[in-house]
Formats: sequence, C-alpha cells, structure tokens
Amino acid sequence: MKKVMVVFGTRPEAIKMAPVVKALEAVPVLETVVCVTAQHREMLDQVLELFRIVPRYDLDIMKERQDLFDIATSVLSGFREVLLKERPDLVLVHGDTSTTFFGALSAYYLQIPVGHVEAGLRTRNKYSPFPEEINRTLTGQLADLHFAPTEWSRSNLLAESVPPEKVWVTGNTVIDALLQTVNPEHVFTPELDGVDFSRRILLVTTHRRENWGEKLMQVYLALLDILESFPDTLVVFPVHMNPVVRDLAYRVLGDHPRIKLIEPLEYADFANLMHRSYLVLSDSGGLQEEAPSLGKPVLVLRDTTERPEAVEAGTVKLVGTSREVIRDTACRLLSDREEYDKMARTANPYGDGKASLRIRDIILDYFKL
Ligand code: UD1
Ligand code: UDP
Repeated sequence: MKKVMVVFGTRPEAIKMAPVVKALEAVPVLETVVCVTAQHREMLDQVLELFRIVPRYDLDIMKERQDLFDIATSVLSGFREVLLKERPDLVLVHGDTSTTFFGALSAYYLQIPVGHVEAGLRTRNKYSPFPEEINRTLTGQLADLHFAPTEWSRSNLLAESVPPEKVWVTGNTVIDALLQTVNPEHVFTPELDGVDFSRRILLVTTHRRENWGEKLMQVYLALLDILESFPDTLVVFPVHMNPVVRDLAYRVLGDHPRIKLIEPLEYADFANLMHRSYLVLSDSGGLQEEAPSLGKPVLVLRDTTERPEAVEAGTVKLVGTSREVIRDTACRLLSDREEYDKMARTANPYGDGKASLRIRDIILDYFKL
C-alpha cells in the first residue's frame, strides 16, 4: 500500500484534480489523501461538492484580500504539520498557483517525491502571468514526476534539462472533467434565471493579477462598445470573488441592462453555459483549454499565453487588453459569419478525457504496483 497526497487550493486546481482524485481513489492498493489549502473558499467548496470530494485536511488559509506573502507563509506552515503527520509516499500538485509551488516546496523540504500535474506550460515572461510563470517553473525544478498535457509542454521541460524519462504526455485532466460535466439535458440553477438564450451570449471572466487596474478597465469599456454595436447580444459575467475584480466590474458594468453580473457559477452550470454561448472573452487559463473542445471561439484578454496549441488550432485568439483591439475583433466575429465559422471549430489539442487514467497508471508503475 502506498500513500498519495493530492494537494490543491483554488477553483481551477480543484476542477482539474477532481478526475485524478477519483481515478486514484478507485485503486485499492493506493491510499489517497486529499489536502486542500482552501486558498479559495467558496469557489473551492463549489467544486468539492459537485465532485463529492471530502478532504482529510483543510488548511482553511483564505483571508479577504490576501497577498502573495500571506498565501506563502500559511501554506508552508500548514503543510509542515500535515506532511509530518501523514508522511505520504508521493505528493501531487497541480499547475501554477501559490498553493502548487509552496505545496511542492514543503514536500521537498521533507524529501517527499512530488508529481506535477499540468507540467511544462511556459510563457518565458516572469511577470506574465504573474506569479504563475515562476510558480510553475520552480515547481518543475522540484518535481520528480512531470505530467505534461501536450508535446509542447513536454519539450519545455526537456529544454530545462528535466530528464525525459520523468516526463509523460498525458493530455489535460480538464478535458476529463469537462466531458463528465457537459450534458445537453443540463438544467441551470436559478442564478441563470433571466438569461435570454435567444440572444447571442458573450461569456466573460476576468481575474489575472497583471490585468488589475487600467487594463481591466479597458476590457470592460470594450464590452460596453460591443453591446452598443450589437443589440442582440447579452454579456453573462460570473464575477470572480476577488474584491479587486468585483469592485471594478460592478462599478463599470453594474448598471447595463444587457450585462448580467452574477456570482461564480458552479462548474456544471458554467461548462454548460459555455456550451450555449456564442463567444468567450476571458483572461482565464482553463477556458483556453475547455472552449476549443466545445468549438467556442475565445478572445484571450492577455498579452501572453502558455497555451499556444489552441491558438494554432485557430479556436483561440490572443487579443490583449486594448479596448480597440478587443472591440474590433469581437465585432468582426459578430458580424462576419465566415470569420466566426473559421474559429468555431472543435479542436482537441488538450486531450481525449483520459488524462487522469494515464496519470493513475504512471503512478502505479512508479510504485511498481
Ligand atoms: C488565484 C491564483 C491564480 C489562479 C486563480 C484562479 C495565486 C497567487 N493565484 O488567484 O493563479 O489562476 O486563483 O481563480 O495562486 N476570494 C473569495 N472567495 C473565494 C476565492 C477568492 O473571497 O472563494 C477572494 C478573497 O478576498 C481572496 C481573493 O479573492 O483574498 C484573492 O484570492 P487568491 O487566491 O489570492 O487570488 P486569485 O486572484 O483568486
Ligand atoms: N469556472 C467555473 N465557474 C465560473 C467561472 C469559471 O466553474 O463561474 C471554471 C472554468 O470552467 C474553468 C475554471 O473555472 O475550468 C477556470 O478558473 P479561473 O478562470 O478562476 O482560473 P484559471 O484557469 O485562469 O487558473
């Protein structure tokens, strides 16, 4: 029997680790222990509930308007206790949050092997996305097993001298979660009452730290421009709980009759809403992976992306945060059917929905079980 501790703290990590937890829990020769930092609270709990995951440990670290030092110190001190008590044979972390890096660092301090799920994504710009580029690069230095979603992410790790026998291309587990969740029969929760599905829905999310302030302001002004030009459109914007984002979103967009600002949606609602949308505008990482497999065009409100595969596949366009560029690109997609159809093609650069089963098998091999 080997003990695997699965660690995560935010909404996207939880969505992407949920299929891994389920795959590992089904193996009798593994003891799977879930430890959440709860760097996010409500947004994490929505996912735990949906996937019926019961953490053995919940560090409950989230504080209102926490900064990067708050997260770093509370994750490190919280994990020390848990790891010393449980002494797992492997710690699995995901992606690029502060929970990821400080979770991996804690395991390293106790010389516990680390597996990194969604390894090898890079922009090579340490401030974009910030602090995720450094979180994932340093986690890559600490990890013993690297689960790269694509060949490109594998090649990034090899370029950093990670031994090839420690890197596996598995696909991205977000596709596993998505395929388990999108369902044409889905019944939306009351949060979406009043959404007029006969209009073309522009699904919007924003949260990136490097966009806070003036850049987000430009994005929001662009949304107002787009609505002005196309009376048949409706913006649905589940607003991230970060007060920095909320304050600006409600101030600039709160009064518009065709903007529905709502609370973060539980994943089943969100994934199915994406499926019913016309266009996605977002600075999120995960949406760049999900939307292509639903054939939904995404305008990425960022200057860099660590996910070039979807750009190459044609479903995702990097538009940055200029009001004019966002407005002009969106307006073209709303008025030119041919342009729209060129982007709205299903592409699956991130996998076939079996990434978590591959990760499970690699872990069993690693333990020679
Ligand atoms: C974090 C991650 C980012 C990831 C994003 C996904 C870091 C440094 N940032 O950014 O990589 O892409 O999550 O969403 O690891 N809040 C709540 N309730 C919640 C969640 C957040 O109230 O359920 C509020 C709190 O005031 C909190 C603030 O949002 O202090 C910021 O949360 P934090 O995790 O620090 O940063 P995010 O911007 O969410
Ligand atoms: N998501 C969700 N509810 C929402 C908005 C997003 O469940 O209201 C999901 C989305 O489908 C994706 C993930 O949350 O899987 C993305 O989270 P976020 O944008 O916060 O983080 P990132 O992917 O940028 O790290």
